[in-house]
Amino acid sequence: MKKYSPIIIFVQVCLLLMPVLLKSQPIAPSERPQWFTDARFGMFIHWGVYSAAEGIWKGEPHRHFNNYAEWIMYRNSIPMEEYIQLAQRFDWDEINPEKWVLAAKKAGMKYITITAKHHDGIALWDSKVGGHTLPKLSGTTRDVLAELAKACQKHDIKLGFYYSHWVDWEHPFGWSHNQELAGKVTPEQYNQYWQDKVIPQLRELLSNYGEVAMLWFDMWIPHEQTVVERQQIDQVLALIRELQPNCLINSRLGIPVSNENIDFETLGDNQLGSNYKKHPWQTPGTIAHSWGYNALENQWKSTTQLLHALIGNVSLNGNFMLNVGPRADGSIPYESVSRLEDIGQWLAINGESIYGSGGVDLAPTQHDWGKITYKKQKNGTDNVYLQVYNWPLDKVLRISGVTSQPTGVYLLNDKLKTSLTYTQQGPYLHVQAPRVAPDRFVSVVVLEFETGMQLDKEVVAEASFGGYSLRGNNIIDHLDAPNKVRFDGTRPEHLVITGPTTLRWKIYVDQHMVYNFDMSYSNQGKGEASITLQASDTELTNELPHTGKIVVEPNQDYYTDEFREKPLGKITFTEAGYHEVTLLIAPADGEAILFNRLWMEKAKD
Ligand code: GLC
Repeated sequence: MKKYSPIIIFVQVCLLLMPVLLKSQPIAPSERPQWFTDARFGMFIHWGVYSAAEGIWKGEPHRHFNNYAEWIMYRNSIPMEEYIQLAQRFDWDEINPEKWVLAAKKAGMKYITITAKHHDGIALWDSKVGGHTLPKLSGTTRDVLAELAKACQKHDIKLGFYYSHWVDWEHPFGWSHNQELAGKVTPEQYNQYWQDKVIPQLRELLSNYGEVAMLWFDMWIPHEQTVVERQQIDQVLALIRELQPNCLINSRLGIPVSNENIDFETLGDNQLGSNYKKHPWQTPGTIAHSWGYNALENQWKSTTQLLHALIGNVSLNGNFMLNVGPRADGSIPYESVSRLEDIGQWLAINGESIYGSGGVDLAPTQHDWGKITYKKQKNGTDNVYLQVYNWPLDKVLRISGVTSQPTGVYLLNDKLKTSLTYTQQGPYLHVQAPRVAPDRFVSVVVLEFETGMQLDKEVVAEASFGGYSLRGNNIIDHLDAPNKVRFDGTRPEHLVITGPTTLRWKIYVDQHMVYNFDMSYSNQGKGEASITLQASDTELTNELPHTGKIVVEPNQDYYTDEFREKPLGKITFTEAGYHEVTLLIAPADGEAILFNRLWMEKAKD
């Protein structure tokens, strides 16, 4: 008999036990989401009995304007006995979860979350509890979740399960929105659903599929506004932490991220980030409109839109989970596949600016050409990635607010890192951009800094083609409340000024120069309002006449406040350097001025 040395045996035993040892070691709550933060991009899969309805029932399209195809049972009032017949349409010869994993991999995604049980209450796996499961209904012994778990492991993709805990149309005591009218479920009955189905099914999911990287719950309002009680939520939390301590849990369980067991915040469907958040967060996004497969889908988002969603979120420390809805034969529609492939190609070149990257401490709307992501490199240098959505026609890429000098400026797709020429004065950096955008979708320019970089988040950014837009969102005193001023649909973004108010901005002037100022405002009052603009020891005073209304759409009796452009005059800045521009607005007594922006531009003559 062959003899093994004790050392080899010891090493082999350790290797065998490694996954168990690793799994059972709970990671500190703050460290748990690290892989998720680094991953930045994942795939959401909505697949279930509804996929076979394809958004049409008995020849009639989904009845609700928000035609999420996975809601068809509820929206089209389909009786459960008829709905479950759809399971016969599943084509098990074709279904292959590894293909989903490969599609995710090719797209540059790092995790997959699949709808293990959606609102229809039908488990995708052969659950021992609950009335219906897809395998039983469709006559297969296959376990899609097990196959998916195996493929994920093989291709190094993390796996998460979506589980509809609150809404369940299958269990007699589960929640359907109609209960609000019917009031049919008592708290005791709802708890019976919870104990009979939710808890045992979660136990199955957490016990039978190896490492579950995340459980993704779906309650889009705080649990206090629903039938779900805090105790029930705590029971779920305890179960997860007992069986898989490192499994991530999203805030749609019904409680906020302030609870240390909630690992990341899930924003609303397709709701992209608008401000930087320190805690991990994510947008679940659709590639079209519906989540589940809808044959009548006609709202496909472009690759560019999807990349903007991903990049924008990363620049605010967020994640993007992009959904696909395969058909009942498992195939992912071509419209999705083509976009995933384009994104994957983009990430293959530009992934360094996304994976493990975050944002910089500048206003999210700082630059009108795109966004900025950032990553500290292993060698200690700081890399700033300029995600240029709109390549400059005048071949000058204007970056505002970075005051330290870069040690490298190059295109991310240029392996040779050929230096781009640039000039820098104060907080303004001008990179000479090649005439043609280096990427079809989003071109990335890298600024490399050796010893950390200094930022100036107060200074007003230069607009594309030059000039400065002094707005409500870049006022010195409002910097901590970005997006305070929003576009409301018909009127431009504006501050409502009801009494004498001084607004202040910080700008930088690169040389002795004359600037033209004008202002956009609305005065709906009757009295005369006045403003005084001050900069570089000069004062310009102007009256702001009544602006009146403007027609939004003809023949519809539909008017809105008119905003008018008012030339204010010229100011000469004799000194190069930082300056403050202040604007004193004095509305007439009891009236308001709606301030939109000041525009400041080098005088042409
Ligand atoms: C909503 C919908 C649901 C979808 C989910 C994805 O909660 O009810 O159908 O699964 O959003 O974020």
